[in-house]
Amino acid sequence: MNQSIKHIGVFTSGGDSPGMNAVLYAIAKAAEANGIKATGIRKGYEGLIDGDFMSLETHQLQKLVHKGGTILKTARSKRFMELKGRKKALQTLQINNIDALIAIGGDGTFKGLLAFSEIYDIPFIGIPGTIDNDISGTDYTLGFDSAVNTAIENIDKIRDTAESHNRVFIVEVMGRDSGYIALHSGLTVGADAILIPESGKDIIDLLNKVKDYDSEDAFLVVVSEGDEIGAELVASKIKEINHNVDLRITKLGHVQRGGNPSALDRMLGIRLGVAAIDALLQGKNNVMVGILNNELYLTPFEEVVKQHQVNDELQKLLELFGK
Ligand code: F6P
Repeated sequence: MNQSIKHIGVFTSGGDSPGMNAVLYAIAKAAEANGIKATGIRKGYEGLIDGDFMSLETHQLQKLVHKGGTILKTARSKRFMELKGRKKALQTLQINNIDALIAIGGDGTFKGLLAFSEIYDIPFIGIPGTIDNDISGTDYTLGFDSAVNTAIENIDKIRDTAESHNRVFIVEVMGRDSGYIALHSGLTVGADAILIPESGKDIIDLLNKVKDYDSEDAFLVVVSEGDEIGAELVASKIKEINHNVDLRITKLGHVQRGGNPSALDRMLGIRLGVAAIDALLQGKNNVMVGILNNELYLTPFEEVVKQHQVNDELQKLLELFGK
């Protein structure tokens, strides 16, 4: 047991994701149970540099478990990328006697911690929080499941109007350069085609299919924002091959980042928050806590890389349902 940790700093960084408040609640609760003071750092690395702090009160956070966004606010900090910014953050932590950090964010957040560890040797623990599900070392990132649920709720609605007009709809979903949201939402709404950056062949299947489309029903295409072709170009390729289609494009955008977290994300947040405190107490440093095969798992930051692969099973589903 590492009894020397008395005061931790906690922040959310990068794009917000549903479940971040749940994880903050779990961290505060587990910290309190172990006699550790937990201080919230606002606006990610920006707050670390500026000393923008707030207290994390368990009784307040308890009422926010169901809320999307992050009570700590978040940012993508350019200043922390510079050594000068990191040195200022170091001073801030020393002045405030913070002896460990927990960061919730994506791979950019962990890269930031890794760079920080080169100049400051206190324990850093990461928690994967991004809707993109693009991080190795965990089956799911916090917020992914909620984002997929939001996407499918909206695509189901689009289907209603698409069927009424016999239209082709191209729905663009988020995910940066990961196709996970597109793949999961596309499969579960029964899309006619799913285009993701991890597959180069999906556009060929789509064009083969839409060639014979007779405008007697809806035709739904779910495309990931990171797809190499993109919604507009897909639309023009469809029109080239089948002149009769009545086509619309909908970009779901930031609606996917908001809303109440799903049960899975709330539970994930609670498990990972407690696991982060346990990791600190066990003397761990520079690791991300994740869940693999429903078991808690620690991955060193150096090995937390952006996931660019869709496994064979998902690839098979993509091919089967895209044809
Ligand atoms: O990483 C989460 C994410 O929502 C991506 O899916 C998307 O590409 C990006 O953030 C959008 O970032 P911003 O909110 O800065 O426009």
